[in-house]
Amino acid sequence: MLNPLSIVILAAGKGSRMKSPKAKVLHEICGREMLYYSIKAAREITDDVIVVVAHQRDAVIAAMEKYFTHLTFVTQDAENFPGTGGAMMGIKPKYDDVLVLNGDMPLIERTSIEKFLANPADIVMSVISLENPSGYGRVVIENDRVQRIVEEKDASASEKAIHTVNAGVYAFKHHVLQTYIPRLSNANAQGEYYLTDVIEMARHDGLEISPLFVEEVEFKGVNSKNDLTNAEMIMMDRLRRTWMDAGVIMQLPHTIYLEEGVKFEGECVIENGVRLCGNTLIVNSHIKAHSVIEDSTITNSDVGPLAHLRPLSVLEDTHVGNFVEVKKSTLKGVKAGHLSYLGDATIGEGSNIGAGTITCNYDGVKKYQTIIGKNVFVGSDTQLVAPVEIADNVMIAAGTTVTAGKYESDILILSRTPIRKVAGFFTKFFGKGK
Ligand code: UD1
Ligand code: MG
Repeated sequence: MLNPLSIVILAAGKGSRMKSPKAKVLHEICGREMLYYSIKAAREITDDVIVVVAHQRDAVIAAMEKYFTHLTFVTQDAENFPGTGGAMMGIKPKYDDVLVLNGDMPLIERTSIEKFLANPADIVMSVISLENPSGYGRVVIENDRVQRIVEEKDASASEKAIHTVNAGVYAFKHHVLQTYIPRLSNANAQGEYYLTDVIEMARHDGLEISPLFVEEVEFKGVNSKNDLTNAEMIMMDRLRRTWMDAGVIMQLPHTIYLEEGVKFEGECVIENGVRLCGNTLIVNSHIKAHSVIEDSTITNSDVGPLAHLRPLSVLEDTHVGNFVEVKKSTLKGVKAGHLSYLGDATIGEGSNIGAGTITCNYDGVKKYQTIIGKNVFVGSDTQLVAPVEIADNVMIAAGTTVTAGKYESDILILSRTPIRKVAGFFTKFFGKGK
């Protein structure tokens, strides 16, 4: 059993290398802000997770409170004490072992964090050997001992040539932080208080510093939009493998876009090019090629190819075919095979929606409901001008505009302009004929 520990996640920086008005830690990976992932990993280990915020503080807190309760947020005085060292000022961890993580490391997993705790040194720090170390603090090791960390902007030419870099995760004894954080200075190229300077001071005082060599893939920081895309590819690959292990069939999985909030149950088949977003739940269903599904629940159904289910669609025992768009609608035991828009609708068992059916749910100001009962046959090219309510066992003839209102059971609804035939028209108009 490991000692209890506190985890501090640094998430107060601007992330200027992202070149974005959005705070770096709010950039999304597989549909969730990158900070979500390090908090999730931390939460698996401890109840004491402290998140340091400053830049876009309120937005960062609001985003994380969507997923987690009982987090401790500490606001950094980033104006007077900028930098990762500034971020650690005023932190009050509950436990004696304190793990510090950068908030821009979404790929880190619980098992890797635990390796820091098995080591009794005063400081355990993460180290990676990189082919291209640019952008990272270089770790100066002499006589097999970590001497100090030099930030790239402060490094000499020979220090820049070092390929051993600081990955940005550290385990400290609380007393080490209490001793050295107040002594940090900002006399460096960026005028910032560097957490990394604690290493040199501790070394000087003879404390034990243990380097822990870690896997690049989990510890790589996200500092640019290129890094963001690379991290997302790795994360999505993990998600796909996890679900395939759980029994989901994926065809050409590398072409399937999958978000963190998506869940599967039972036997599901996902064809190539499918995009699954938000809090989607798929149960015993087949999603065919190039369909897009957002925040929807699909049970015992088949969808696509090329269908679009927008948020809050609920499908049960239903077939939705190509070029069908569904939004905020519940379809139970329904067939909607081709080319339709079904929005703000409830459709009952045994009903068939013909090709080209449109729910006219919006009058330019408000949205209205369409309710279709059981066993309703909706002919092709029908427009349902909402609000409209159709009872069970009704037939709507092809080409009908069903105007707003209530329609009773066991009727045919039909609106058609009578056919006119004008003899000889073709020859007269085009000047040729058979
Ligand atoms: C930091 C390390 C560097 C290491 C790299 C690993 C320092 C001084 N440097 O550099 O040695 O190689 O991580 O990825 O620590 N943050 C705050 N408050 C601030 C500034 C930053 O909370 O005032 C947070 C950021 O939101 C981010 C994390 O700290 O999550 C790291 O900041 P970043 O600017 O990315 O540091 P690096 O330059 O990458
Ligand atoms: Mg970084």
